[in-house]
Order: sequence, then structure tokens, then C-alpha cells
Amino acid sequence: MENEFLNIVDKRINAAYEVPISQGTIRAMDLRKIKAGPDDFGLMTYDPAFMNTASCKSAITFIDGDKGILRYRGYPIEQLAEKCTFLEVAYLILFGELPTQAELETWIDNVTHHTMIHETTKKFLEGFRFNAHPMGMFISTVAALSTVYPEARNVLDPETRRLQILRLVGKVPTIAAYTYRHSLGFPYVYPDNELTYTENFMNMLWKMVEPKYRANPALARALDILFILHADHEQNCSANVMRAVGSSQADPFVATAAAAAALSGPLHGGANEEVLKMLDEIGSKDRVPAYIERVKAGQIKLMGFGHRIYKNYDPRARIIKWAADQVFEVTGRNPKLEIALELERIALEDEYFVKRKLYPNVDFYSGIMYQAMGFKPEIFTVLFAIPRTVGWLAQWQEMIEDPEQKIARPRQVYTGYEARDFVPIEKRGKPAPVAS
Ligand code: ACO
Repeated sequence: MENEFLNIVDKRINAAYEVPISQGTIRAMDLRKIKAGPDDFGLMTYDPAFMNTASCKSAITFIDGDKGILRYRGYPIEQLAEKCTFLEVAYLILFGELPTQAELETWIDNVTHHTMIHETTKKFLEGFRFNAHPMGMFISTVAALSTVYPEARNVLDPETRRLQILRLVGKVPTIAAYTYRHSLGFPYVYPDNELTYTENFMNMLWKMVEPKYRANPALARALDILFILHADHEQNCSANVMRAVGSSQADPFVATAAAAAALSGPLHGGANEEVLKMLDEIGSKDRVPAYIERVKAGQIKLMGFGHRIYKNYDPRARIIKWAADQVFEVTGRNPKLEIALELERIALEDEYFVKRKLYPNVDFYSGIMYQAMGFKPEIFTVLFAIPRTVGWLAQWQEMIEDPEQKIARPRQVYTGYEARDFVPIEKRGKPAPVAS
């Protein structure tokens, strides 16, 4: 609504200000004029962890955390997961509209023709230790693409950006699959252009000596749905890193690697691996209540639970539960599911979790499904990074095209010493004198 204002009275000097409200926000820079005196820098906001700060305007993903709603470009996640392929959704997220048949075919063809990686990049991967964590290999190799495509630095040119987007969307499954093969000691498998995006990924993961890899359609579809669910999630930790690194006009390969590094942490995308470790540690259904007590005592966190934005059931977790059932029809039920269901049942009834609005998030069930498909837990976060690359690139592109954006550079509240004089080494060890 236009003509909405916030009246602020600064009691320090009894001054009144009128600050415009737009789209439920006030501009932090409007507070700068609020000064206690002529030498005052002006008021800032203090918001560690960005609990209440919108860092951008975005038209990509909408989340209503209280109602458990997630939409890409206005389309509900449930409809996209049911009716689309991952590459169709990737197009939607990156370019703003669902593709026509002709646009989709061109897009698929373009992505398919960017799945190969340079042989030197393959050699680069071979240099990792046999037991290197796949996520570390993934992050480093995506960053290394920057050396293969130096023109990617030309980030202000739309055509160059488009080419790098194709390269990244095309190559991340190849890199991901190679990290997996490397950790198993198997030879790398080249992409197969006759297969779909997800089938080709499975081909590069699991093809052995058979002349042609044929993916199980139910498993390929389940993985495709998981990719759709993970494709974007507005201003999460890794998207924020992508925008921050991209804001310095670094190339998209290093920016994507930085975003993937943020994703790897256990509080973000690394949680899916942690959930499996947790289920292993619990071991059996009867030990769930004791584990919950340790969580409530603050000794440990229930991994795969809780979210900064969702204060309701994560809609993605609901769809993953459904997709996992489709996978179990093929693979048989993962015995860990019993423990997970019991954890969820107890947690959703318990006062500790109810009061804090802690619900299963996207990572709670995905690992159980991935494990049933034959993945080792160390690769789970890499599986997350493949589709999320699309979201990172969409956020990056939007940031570059936004005339209001500049290099990301937060302020701080300085809490250190006032200026003080240098102390020669022989005089140190006593409290330093403070300059007058
Ligand atoms: N287990 C137990 N208690 C929890 C959990 C959890 N998983 N998550 C939050 N809480 C508690 C906190 O201890 C805090 O309690 P308090 O008010 O008594 O201090 C309260 O709930 C609020 O939690 P915060 O940490 O303030 O919430 P925040 O928004 O900062 O953190 C986060 C969100 C990081 C996701 C957190 O819930 C968490 O660590 N979850 C486990 C890790 C996880 O599953 N991460 C994946 C998230 S989804 C994704 O990134 C893809």
C-alpha cells in the first residue's frame, strides 16, 4: 500500500521522524538520518543471523512458514512435484515461466550438451585422496571450473551468464557422480545424451560393464521429484552466500562453490547426512524416548528437525515421505524408517517441540530414501547441491540484474578497544595502556 508511514520519536533529543513503509518493510538507510547530535553516525539496525532483515527483493520463491506453503514463481510445490520434470522446473526457476514444448526441448538439448567435463577437470578429481568427502570434492571441483572458463568473469554480459548457467546445470551431476565413483574406486562413466537428466545421473553413478544403463523408472522419477523439491528455497544460508559472493562480481563457478560450502554445514544441507548418523546411533525404536530426553536436556539436537522459516510441517518433507514410499516399493523398506517415524510421532506430541514449533524439515526423510536407493550418507549433501545449483544461479542472476543491489557489505557494532599505543614486545604481558 502507498502512503504508509512509521512515526518514530527519538527520546534522546525529542525529535520525530516519518519513515515510509513499503511491502511490510522500512528501509534501514532511512534510519541513518536519526542522529543524537551532529557528529552521530546515525541509527543502524542490529540483526545477527538476519532474523528480521530482507536483504533483497525477489520474485523467485515464496514461502509462508506459518502455513507451510512453498511456491516457485507462484506455482505450488505440490503441483510442480506431481506434474513436472526437474529440468522443466529448473527452467521455470531460472527464466520465470514454465517452458513451452519447443522451449523445453531446446533447454533440455542445451543442458544435455553441457554435461561433459574437461579431461583435465577429471584428472583434477583423480587427485583427491581415496577417502575424500564427496562434498569437499564437489565444492573444489566446481570452483576449479572457473579456471577452465575464464570468460565467465564477464558477469555483466547476459549471454556469458546464460552460457555459464547451462554449463553449471549440465555439469554438476557429472561432477557429483564422479565424486561418488572416486570414493568407491570405480572408473568414471561419461554422460549418455539419450537419457533424461536424472537417468543420466544414475547412469554416471551406477553403470558398470553393461553396454547401456537402464534406470528403474520409479527410482528415476523419485530422484527427479527430490531434485524438484530441493531446487530453491529463497534466502537460505547458501543462497545468501551465492548473492554475497556474486555481489563482488566474482564468477559464478566460485560463487556456486562458496554456496555449496555453506550448504555443506550440518545446520543446513549437511543435516541429511547427520540424520542418518543419528538414526544409526539410536539403533532401534525402543531407544527413541531416551534420545528425545537428551534432546530436551539440550545435550544434542534432533537433526532434520526445525527451520528458521517453517513453523509448521515443511511441505517438502510431506512429499519426500510419499516419494520414499514409491522407492521402498522397489527397494524394500529401509529399516531406519521405523525409527524415524517413531521420532516424528513422539516429537510432534511433545511439549518441547510443540512449544518451539519444531517439525521435520526436508532433510529428515530424504536420507532414508537415498540410502534405500543405494547411496552412502556422505553423498547426500552432494545430491542436494545438484538441484540447488539451479536456485543459486537464479538468485545470482536476479541479484546481478537488480539495480538496487551493490557489493554486499554489512555494518558492525564495534566492541573492541579504543585507539591505543603500540607496545614493544619486551613490555608486553601487562594490561596495555589505553591512549588518552
Ligand atoms: N533439536 C532440538 N532443539 C531445537 C532444534 C532441533 N533440531 N532446532 C531448534 N531447536 C530449539 C533451539 O534450541 C531453540 O530452543 P530455545 O528457545 O530453548 O533456545 C529453539 O528451538 C529455536 O531454535 P533456533 O536455533 O533459535 O532456530 P534457528 O532458526 O536459529 O535454527 C535450524 C534453525 C538451524 C534449522 C535449527 O532448527 C537446527 O539446528 N536444526 C537441526 C539441523 C537441521 O535439520 N538443519 C536443516 C535445516 S533445513 C535446510 O537447511 C535444508
